Amino acid sequence: MSQTKRVGIIGLGKYLPEKVLTNKDFEKMVETSDQWITERTGIKERRIARPDEATSDMALAAAKQALAAAQLTGADIDLIVVATISPDTYFPSNACRLQGALGCRSIPAFDVSAACSGYIYALTVAENFIKAGTAKRALVVAVEKLSMVTDYTDRNTCVLFGDGAGAAVLSTVETGGILSSYLGTDGKQCELITLPAGGSRRPATHETIDQRLHYLKMNGAEVFKVAVKTMADAALEVMNTLGVHSPDEVSLIIPHQANIRIINAVAKRMGVSLTEGKVFLNIDKYGNMSAASTAVALCEAVEQGRVKKGDRVVMVAFGSGLTVGALFIELS
Ligand code: UT7
Repeated sequence: MSQTKRVGIIGLGKYLPEKVLTNKDFEKMVETSDQWITERTGIKERRIARPDEATSDMALAAAKQALAAAQLTGADIDLIVVATISPDTYFPSNACRLQGALGCRSIPAFDVSAACSGYIYALTVAENFIKAGTAKRALVVAVEKLSMVTDYTDRNTCVLFGDGAGAAVLSTVETGGILSSYLGTDGKQCELITLPAGGSRRPATHETIDQRLHYLKMNGAEVFKVAVKTMADAALEVMNTLGVHSPDEVSLIIPHQANIRIINAVAKRMGVSLTEGKVFLNIDKYGNMSAASTAVALCEAVEQGRVKKGDRVVMVAFGSGLTVGALFIELS
């Protein structure tokens, strides 16, 4: 009788650009204050990539670290999935650029576009390739250069976002692994967070540039409301599927780092208080890095010894689409 394979994470990596943009810096750019940003979002600073630094550069740095942690090289990888909404170019994909840069064999390499839920989507895709026997070892990278689509004249959005990358190597494992996952979409809410121009609906023209339509637009208050319920439901779903009904049976919750108030409300719905230390937070340092947020958070949680082999982690994210994703992982 064939046994279902366990697929787990065997190496993690991250990359954060050097440049730090603080709330004080924003006070000189738009009508805002450190106090407003801190109280309303939990963000104190964020990292910004150099002008000559593309997402494939950040992805490569994070990927190299994850491969080294797994004691593998690019030649050992059978699949690359990159989660991003800010690739170097529309085509080819960032995954193709990474495959070339890492000297991998001819393997499947493609990008996944699921905004802030991208890391969880990409991990789930890779998990299923490995379960199906199509790949043995997969490299998953979540990377964003949101500074390139951030309108630094719009105080409603510019204070929120940052740049960065996180990576994971997946393989079959003896113990633990991804135990359950949940992916969802509500496409009726597409316009709540969007990059209006530059695609086939509104190709780039002088007018679209003049109208600042190549910058991210967001209905923050609406997104806030939907995010809380959707993320909490998804997190509880991956727990309930496994018969886990209490947060006491989970070592760490790693939510998408969009807003401390969203995280607090999600935690509350899950029966957890932020003061317990059971919810991983790095939003103060990096802001919202879309797909890279959960990827960097998982990497830092392990680096900081917050979780180790055998510990159970719930990751949950929410983003443009609207997409939602959650994973229940026992670290291998
Ligand atoms: O990654 C997933 C996608 N993104 C999110 O999850 C973001 C979800 N939404 C949010 O995090 C919050 O809605 C925001 C942080 C974006 C905004 O916070 P809010 O408490 O919902 O504020 P608001 O949009 O209701 O605005 C309240 C006031 C407004 O002023 P008036 O109209 O009341 O005079 C805004 O103009 O705050 C003003 N405001 C600011 N004031 C100072 C908005 N941004 C700023 C700012 N500094 N940076």
